[in-house]
Amino acid sequence: MPANDVVLEVNDLHTYFFNKRGVTKAVDGVSFSLRAGETLGIVGESGCGKTMTALSLLRLIPKPAARIVSGEIILDGEDLVPKSNKEMREVRGRKISMILQDPQTSLNPVFNIGDQLSEALGIHKPLSKAEKVVQAVASLRNVRVAAPERRLKDYPHQMSGGMKQRVIGAIAVASSPKVVIADEPTTALDVTIQLQYLRLLKDIQAETGLAIIFITHDFGIVARMCDRVAVMYAGRIVEEAGVRNLFNKPSHPYTQALMDSVPKMDRTDRLFAIDGQPPPLYALPEGCRFADRCSHVSDICRTEYPPVASVEEGHAAACWMLDPKWKK
Ligand SMILES: Nc1ncnc2c1ncn2[C@@H]1O[C@H](COP(=O)(O)OP(=O)(O)OP(=O)(O)O)[C@@H](O)[C@H]1O
Ligand code: SF4
Ligand SMILES: [Mg+2]
Repeated sequence: MPANDVVLEVNDLHTYFFNKRGVTKAVDGVSFSLRAGETLGIVGESGCGKTMTALSLLRLIPKPAARIVSGEIILDGEDLVPKSNKEMREVRGRKISMILQDPQTSLNPVFNIGDQLSEALGIHKPLSKAEKVVQAVASLRNVRVAAPERRLKDYPHQMSGGMKQRVIGAIAVASSPKVVIADEPTTALDVTIQLQYLRLLKDIQAETGLAIIFITHDFGIVARMCDRVAVMYAGRIVEEAGVRNLFNKPSHPYTQALMDSVPKMDRTDRLFAIDGQPPPLYALPEGCRFADRCSHVSDICRTEYPPVASVEEGHAAACWMLDPKWKK
């Protein structure tokens, strides 16, 4: 794909919380890019900054505690960081949208599905009531909801979890955004429904050329859904690669440890758990943030943050072991 297919470019993004404890560096120098039709997975342990990265892209970080302190978010050629709230309301939904983990909190219980879809459709397009109904029906059909005309009058509590998640998907793509961020969109669903939902997202992507950022803890979902993967640890991306390269050659000790902790069908031994905890994001060490948990740690790891090294084309990791200066 040519480089001009890039729809989103995030450069050295820093989002910090400022509170009594001091400064919490939730997102601390994150960079990546995304092409039309591509799916980027973001994986990493709880609290490493995945959701805060996503909320930063939409400029929906909790205020006033959190602030984007520096960096760029170039979406479709425009930097979102300096945009006003009013300008961001135009961008959200129309150019970038998000599917949240919990359908209960994403849909409003007091409005029926038709109203909620109409609102999503109406914000960006001045439509008549009849046109809104036609489009709402079409967008439900798009996410494979059976008998959509009848569903418009339903309230969220009348629908199953899988159905609600489809409606959320319909709302997210109602205005044909360039990028959809799905933050663990399937954790509340049972396995069969999860798979159906993931297949649906891929189908919509194939039809529309949508770029997807997929946030998950689940490497099985990464393998199924993603073209590329970014592994986050303590506010930073520590490894990024095409999905196959990452699985074949995980190169950062944190990625290796994460993969070792994945359950395998043919394995009966105890699951490997990564010992220890990530450092608190309000008191980060000078050097490598994984040092306290890494079995390869050396002196230089404690004093200097490792440079990003190329493992192979399109595959990079931030670990001193990959640097020519490495001495054990
Ligand atoms: N409201 C808040 N106030 C202060 N700090 C916060 C707040 N929300 C998040 N943080 C900080 O931001 C960090 C990153 O949180 P984030 O929600 O992005 O993690 P995550 O990677 O999405 O985790 P999970 O996998 O559990 O969803 C947290 O570790 C926490 O230190
Ligand atoms: S830089 Fe050092 S401590 Fe960090 S992951 Fe690499 S070897 Fe381990
Ligand atoms: Mg999260």
